[in-house]
Amino acid sequence: MTDLDQTRVELLGAIAAADAEALETIRVSALGKSGSITALMKTLGQMSPEERQAKAPAIQAFRGAVADAIAERKAALDAAALDARLASERLDMTRPVAAGAEGSVHPVSQVMDELAEIFADLGFAVATGPEIEDDWHNFTALNIPETHPARAMHDTFYFPDEEGRAHRMLLRTHTSPVQIRTMMTQQPPIRIIAPGRVYRSDSDATHTPMFHQIEGLVIDKDIHLGHLRWTLETFLKAFFERDDIVLRLRPSYFPFTEPSVEVDVGYSIEKGRRVIGGSEGWMEVLGSGMVHPKVIAACGLDPDEYQGFAFGTGVDRLAMLKYGMDDLRAFFDGDLRWLRHYGFRALDVPTLSGGVGA
Ligand code: DAH
Repeated sequence: MTDLDQTRVELLGAIAAADAEALETIRVSALGKSGSITALMKTLGQMSPEERQAKAPAIQAFRGAVADAIAERKAALDAAALDARLASERLDMTRPVAAGAEGSVHPVSQVMDELAEIFADLGFAVATGPEIEDDWHNFTALNIPETHPARAMHDTFYFPDEEGRAHRMLLRTHTSPVQIRTMMTQQPPIRIIAPGRVYRSDSDATHTPMFHQIEGLVIDKDIHLGHLRWTLETFLKAFFERDDIVLRLRPSYFPFTEPSVEVDVGYSIEKGRRVIGGSEGWMEVLGSGMVHPKVIAACGLDPDEYQGFAFGTGVDRLAMLKYGMDDLRAFFDGDLRWLRHYGFRALDVPTLSGGVGA
């Protein structure tokens, strides 16, 4: 056995038995910059061509065998380490939740889940869009003119103007730009809801600078106001879990719908409190209308071929109406007492069959 064979047997034996740390030490001492094999490789340069031809194959094979053995050992050690970690971090998902576990589902999340459940049943998908929008999607494509008050600084959080950017960036002021993004990327028929955060420069008992909206959009052929009315009535009955929901559609104006309607829902007074249902009084709950032909055209669709309706409303407001909170600011205070009182159990997932209100 040559010296090289001897060293090789010893080295390969050490590699096979090494742990991660020892393996790295072996790697550095053999293949590192001043490692033994590296030094051996360097001797090739000083040899005469004949000698090099005679010795190079053995030295190179030696180097290759050691490098392969190190890589193989490292892969085995890594795999074993991962297995050990997976085994030690295993969670038993079938165990019951510990009694007294902290945490609850915020009413906003709860209501968003309820809305997704109700609209999924009607064939609507959930769509999303960016909270940092540009003014084309947020305003222009929605037929909101340059002079519209919503565009003013005191209502909208703008980012500083950037040179070279065609459109000014802002925090979206409503979820309606998701209509635009959806129409530009999907072919009708379209049926979506878009829940999410929106931002306005506003703060009092019923306004916070960030709040939540949900947008609805249907685009197809031969869609008319009757479809809108039926959809909203079906949704509100399911949401408030009452059959005596009465809607009132009032003519209104939104730049992105024509005609536009505001939807009121009737309430009655029970034990001195307003309760949704009946028609003793009216509360505004939604903005909606038939999508303006200009909006459909801005998205590259032919308004003579496609029509649709849209609606938008505040999720926080829906939560307040359904679950009886009266100060919107408390939604975002993170006060544990409030969360314990108004929060929902994480495992009570809203389902239509079980009652969306959980
Ligand atoms: N974007 C409106 C707002 O923020 C709400 C709205 C009204 C959305 C009418 C719509 C609609 O889709 O048709 O106040």
